[in-house]
Amino acid sequence: MSKDKFSLVLMLMLVALSACSKKEAGSSTSSTASSGSCNLVSTKDNSPLLIKVLPTDTAEAKEFLATCKNPYTKIYAKDAEAAKAGHKQFNFQGCSGCHGGNANGLMGPSIIDAQWEYPKHNTDKGMFETIAGGTNGKGATARGSMLTWHSQLAGHTGDGLDTDTILKIMAWLRTQYVGGGETPWLN
Ligand code: HEC
Repeated sequence: MSKDKFSLVLMLMLVALSACSKKEAGSSTSSTASSGSCNLVSTKDNSPLLIKVLPTDTAEAKEFLATCKNPYTKIYAKDAEAAKAGHKQFNFQGCSGCHGGNANGLMGPSIIDAQWEYPKHNTDKGMFETIAGGTNGKGATARGSMLTWHSQLAGHTGDGLDTDTILKIMAWLRTQYVGGGETPWLN
């Protein structure tokens, strides 16, 4: 098959796929490829982070991939009991090994203060991009780099994490925030 033809077939497949995932999510308006309409980009080089909506994804994961908003954040803010699910994953997945059991920093930086390694971490999209795809270690405090965690991305740690697990961890991290000032993730 010629390269052009191949691209065309690929495009059509992606359009078909995104139409599918749109029907399941039931909410998104426009969609690029199969990655939902939240156009995630790598913290390393700004290239697209192609995380697909999977049939096995939770409703919350589908909502995030369509809107860039983490639906767990507001739920956990009001319900400390529910937030424990995120804390549990933070420890279980080994995040605490570098960031400390309460996420206030160890070898890795604190995630609960106002000192963001990259300014975009005060948004759901930006924080998700760093956890899912990792960094080059060029953050504000230059304390090394973040690993890649999302199971759909090349080079991910161990078995990797799905979209839902990352969102739960993020929502718990937001409940621990002590930095003061603006909290745009609650808007
Ligand atoms: C091997 C050590 C290590 C592990 C394990 C690790 N991190 Fe990190 N993390 C880092 C380092 C180092 C940085 C700073 C990266 C940079 O500046 O480029 C970072 C940065 C971050 C940031 C941005 C913090 C800020 O203040 O802006 C978040 C969010 C984060 N990590 C979440 C996680 C989560 C969630 C996990 C578990 C799934 C995890 N990390 C596991 C080392 C680690």
